[in-house]
Amino acid sequence: MVVLGIETSCDDTSVGLVNDGTQVLSVLLASQIHVHNKFGGVVPEIASRKHLESIVPVVEEALSRARVGLGDVDLVSVTAGPGLLGALLVGVCFAKALSFALCKPLVGVHHLEAHIYANFLGASVPQFPLLALVVSGGHTDLILVRGHGVYQVVGVTLDDAAGEAFDKVARAMGLGYPGGPEIERLAARGDSSKVRFPKTRLEEGSFDFSFSGLKTAVLRALQEANYSKEDIAASFQRTVVASLVGTTVSAARALGVGRIALAGGVAANSLLRAELADACSRNGLQLYVPPKQFCTDNGAMVASAGFWVHRQGRQASLELNAVADLPLESQP
Ligand code: KG4
Ligand code: ZN
Repeated sequence: MVVLGIETSCDDTSVGLVNDGTQVLSVLLASQIHVHNKFGGVVPEIASRKHLESIVPVVEEALSRARVGLGDVDLVSVTAGPGLLGALLVGVCFAKALSFALCKPLVGVHHLEAHIYANFLGASVPQFPLLALVVSGGHTDLILVRGHGVYQVVGVTLDDAAGEAFDKVARAMGLGYPGGPEIERLAARGDSSKVRFPKTRLEEGSFDFSFSGLKTAVLRALQEANYSKEDIAASFQRTVVASLVGTTVSAARALGVGRIALAGGVAANSLLRAELADACSRNGLQLYVPPKQFCTDNGAMVASAGFWVHRQGRQASLELNAVADLPLESQP
């Protein structure tokens, strides 16, 4: 079954064609970063306008690279939320029109659900139940996935998301956006044992996260100028990774879940991938990690999620709407 997935929740217009929820035929992405960079952040109105300009050429190019025609598409899948409302609407309206014109079913997926399903584009198809650590620019969530489309959020960030912390620290260092890859590059030249950042202590038994205290400590260290930016970046990255890995492994053990899946843009971070792999093998946990190019926002993960939840009977009507704050536990 060929699924066309559309992602327009933020500043990337991306379309993926995926066969049977696992095999990527093509994935195309039109990034708007250069446009928003001038303003120091994503400007919602500009994002919507750019999606509108890009959506048709991106779909056409994705089809052409996959060597499939519109007539070969069996299902249309689209991110329905959460995200920027105007940006989401472009994808949702386009997907509805396409589904109607092709007389093919439509499914609306949650953005975090799509991130989790990036794991199905890897070497092996994950089994359930699994505990997903979704770390992106807007979320740091621990999600218990009991089956296809069945989610329970067991941990969230109490303040900044992990990706947001990377972005804010990068900005304070005068680095570009997105900050994660910039910090990772800088950290590779630094010594992570040089600066001791405080570890946020949360209530016993809580699987929540907090990064704003760490962010403040990093900003202070930058002002004091006792350390090199490289050492600060390396120490910051190590502290974030230790918190993510520690809480995830504790939650898996407490919940009695033997499988962990990593997802979201921050999952592209090499230290996080390595440390989580190490902790999982020490604790006898099976780990799924998506290929790096499918960690950040892309249409292939939306297509994969659409395939698997549609198989469970989920289908959207032409009433499907974009919802800026769509909750994960109740799906469109
Ligand atoms: O999932 P994503 O593409 O978009 C959202 O849904 O937010 O995640 C983007 C986030 C940004 O905050 C970015 O700085 C972070 O992922 N990120 C990284 C890396 N690559 C992207 N963070 C740390 N290390 C990376 N290599
Ligand atoms: Zn995302």
